Amino acid sequence: MNPAAQAIPLTSRRKGPLAGRVRVPGDKSISQRSLILGALAVGETRIAGMLEGGDVISTANAMKALGATVERVGEGAWRVLGVGVGGFAEPAAPLDFGNSATGCRLAMGAVAGCPITVTFDGDASLRTRPMRRILDPLEKMGARTLEIREGGRLPAVVQGARDPIPIEYEAPVPSAQLKSAVLLAGLAAPGTTTVIEKEATRDHTEKMLKHFGASVRVSPYGDHGRRIVLDGQPELEAAPVVVPADPSSAAFPLAAALIVPGSEVVLEGVMMNPLRTGLLTTLKEMGAAIELVAKRNEGGEEVADLRVTPGALKGVDVPAERAPTMIDEYPILAAIAAFAEGETRMRGLKELRVKESDRLEGTAALLRVNGVEAEIVDDDLIVRGKGRAAGGGVVTTHMDHRIAMSALVMGLASEQPVGVDDSAFIATSFPGFVELMRSLGADLT
Ligand code: S3P
Repeated sequence: MNPAAQAIPLTSRRKGPLAGRVRVPGDKSISQRSLILGALAVGETRIAGMLEGGDVISTANAMKALGATVERVGEGAWRVLGVGVGGFAEPAAPLDFGNSATGCRLAMGAVAGCPITVTFDGDASLRTRPMRRILDPLEKMGARTLEIREGGRLPAVVQGARDPIPIEYEAPVPSAQLKSAVLLAGLAAPGTTTVIEKEATRDHTEKMLKHFGASVRVSPYGDHGRRIVLDGQPELEAAPVVVPADPSSAAFPLAAALIVPGSEVVLEGVMMNPLRTGLLTTLKEMGAAIELVAKRNEGGEEVADLRVTPGALKGVDVPAERAPTMIDEYPILAAIAAFAEGETRMRGLKELRVKESDRLEGTAALLRVNGVEAEIVDDDLIVRGKGRAAGGGVVTTHMDHRIAMSALVMGLASEQPVGVDDSAFIATSFPGFVELMRSLGADLT
């Protein structure tokens, strides 16, 4: 699937309340990692609840090209036969990761520990994203960047290390992709590989490595950080993976239920990993009515059903240190903030500039074109909420799924309809978004 092939404009408009019980697709981060770790393990990994979005399909294809067997055996059910740590074969053609930085960057880490040469590429959005942050530490571990476009952009030709070197690396930016790439390269290195992060980011790689039998030790570092130590050259053993519903996808119907009067929506089995729940913390501070019911453990993660109804919301100050736990949720939080009363200031959003698009600019533009006051001051986004949005704008999505979904959710409660120039990229992370929203009563055409 290549979403870029044809733009699909879409418009959302105000209608009655939203109601129903739905389950959003599987978590993107965990789906990606299950394929990559499955490909590095010995034996057969069975995955249930897999996200079958464009990003994950790109990674599945890449793992096949590197020598693993990857098969879909039913709805959301996949099997992966791995090649073992360091066992990737050199692919015949460039690996195309489409829109997915996660797939690309984690695969770079895994390839860095194998003596093969691989060309990494992606779509026009992925080609704008910085890769030096990943390749710098991988080069310290013995990999070589043979070719790369100016500015450290894809396509890049990477030669993995014959004898990978374990390192201790302090991440200069809070990024789970960077941390994961170093840890995956460290799998093939003798001795211990250590990553220090000053601000803790999502820990799915560490957790899944342990689940596959690797020895990983995690300890606190400073006020908000972690130190992760991996023992190299483990025999990774295939293990079953159950993928919980993606909190970053759940954020969209959740937001819609908060801002469309009279709604009542239940989101089933949403992952509650504390490194992913910054949006819920923020919404609680804003006064949102979100009830967590039936908390339970599924596949090693805490999950809950979320019951969401609308209520009066107030603007809040979102501290910078919360950003890693809600990094993908700022566009939708900004849309919600328009419907709150008062100013919401979201601090420390520098990393948003290097997402699928410049999400800081894109989010501000999304609001402004729909009559909401928004300002960027340094790395902060300020939204002046007036309990309403005029709507009437057509949002440029810049190949960014989350900008598209945030705009469409906003249109469900705006005075005038909200359009997006292209909804095709929604399928990279949330296939079935439009149908799911319609099943709740949303008017999307
Ligand atoms: C992800 C990490 C985050 C996030 C992305 C998924 C992951 O990116 O934005 O959607 O699965 O590791 P960064 O590592 O660049 O913060």
